[in-house]
Amino acid sequence: MEKFFEKLDLAIKNDILVKMTMSKPVSKNSELRNIYVKPILLKNNKMYQFTYRYERRDETKNFDATQTIEQVRSLVPEVFQNVSLFTITEDVTLLVSKKGKPTLMCKKVQENREQDFSHDHEKQRLIDPTNPWWHLLGLTTRDGKVTADMQHKYKQICKYVEIVDGVMRQTKFDDEIHIADMGAGKGYLTFALYEYLTTHYDKKIVMEGVEIRKDLVLKINDIIEKCKDARPCVSTIHFVQNSIDEYKPSNIDVLIALHACDTATDDAILKGIRNNAKLIICAPCCHKQIRHEMEKSGKTDAITKYGIFLERQAVMITDTIRALVLEYCGYKTQVMEFIEIDNTPKNVLLVGRKTDKPVDKEAIAKQIKALMEQYGIEEHYLWKNLWKNCRTY
Ligand SMILES: C[S@@+](CC[C@H](N)C(=O)[O-])C[C@H]1O[C@@H](n2cnc3c(N)ncnc32)[C@H](O)[C@@H]1O
Repeated sequence: MEKFFEKLDLAIKNDILVKMTMSKPVSKNSELRNIYVKPILLKNNKMYQFTYRYERRDETKNFDATQTIEQVRSLVPEVFQNVSLFTITEDVTLLVSKKGKPTLMCKKVQENREQDFSHDHEKQRLIDPTNPWWHLLGLTTRDGKVTADMQHKYKQICKYVEIVDGVMRQTKFDDEIHIADMGAGKGYLTFALYEYLTTHYDKKIVMEGVEIRKDLVLKINDIIEKCKDARPCVSTIHFVQNSIDEYKPSNIDVLIALHACDTATDDAILKGIRNNAKLIICAPCCHKQIRHEMEKSGKTDAITKYGIFLERQAVMITDTIRALVLEYCGYKTQVMEFIEIDNTPKNVLLVGRKTDKPVDKEAIAKQIKALMEQYGIEEHYLWKNLWKNCRTY
């Protein structure tokens, strides 16, 4: 145990602490689930921000170096049994068993790591709530304060832009970036990304929201009109009323589809593939098509004989095949957690990045077919439609 605290002392003394998490509460009834610690700069002074994560809320407190060490000593192992310390050079994990036996694991870091000194509330400021569209969209009061019942939404959109920014920064774009947001709904996430990119990227951003519901499209285009005088930058965002599969874009660099229902996600992925989008980013929603196929076949295995697992497996199979189809079409594909504050099994982001690297299509097609056969799936909507009017994939 002392070895761990020596490493913590050194990390703080040498200023190489990247982050730390204390988890696994000793008390089963504890409302406090974990504590996340990171270095921050407060008026140019190095401090450590502790985020206390409770079941339904987060609280933050800042401590100096000495207080930080005292805090951790008072919390481990009395309150938390596990603590993971990430430094620029080493990952250190301390696990304390129920009987109080400590195990220390240390691993040298291979990649280049950097410290991030920004505050959580600075991160939330990625989106400026005083921009006039936020009030018109119903997120803020007239004077630009996020309303109490929209706090969660505001956190969500800030997290969203942070994630998409991380993904987009790894892709090369020309001077204009054309983004199509499929199934844009009420437009919160579309506006958030547009606002963020137009303020942080030195490129022209052209954003089109595609939404089937006419009332939403009219409302959002009206909001855009109303904001044009105060913020002329909104001249390159626009919503169109259309279904995703009938939408005919002039150009797509980034295709986004967040929570587009069932096979609308497949239509969106296909639209991205057919338009040679550089990036395809989607957070799938319901997965009815494959669940029905699996139920129809009557085939079950040790997992899918349990109803709730059948449902979850349908989600896994649908999204795995989507990821494989993207790979098949030349997209290097990552599956990542989407918005960690929305803790559901469907909280997944598929990210496909177009590459020129050769792909073993035969092997990927084999994997797709094997999965479909195993679960008695006659057709996967995306895989089937990839071939529609097109023989060259
Ligand atoms: C769950 S909402 C998601 C909204 C937004 N993307 C978000 O994540 O907050 C899904 C939206 O997609 C729209 N939608 C569903 N199917 C569509 C389709 N085939 N074409 C266009 N829009 C569609 C729905 O009307 C709805 O507004």
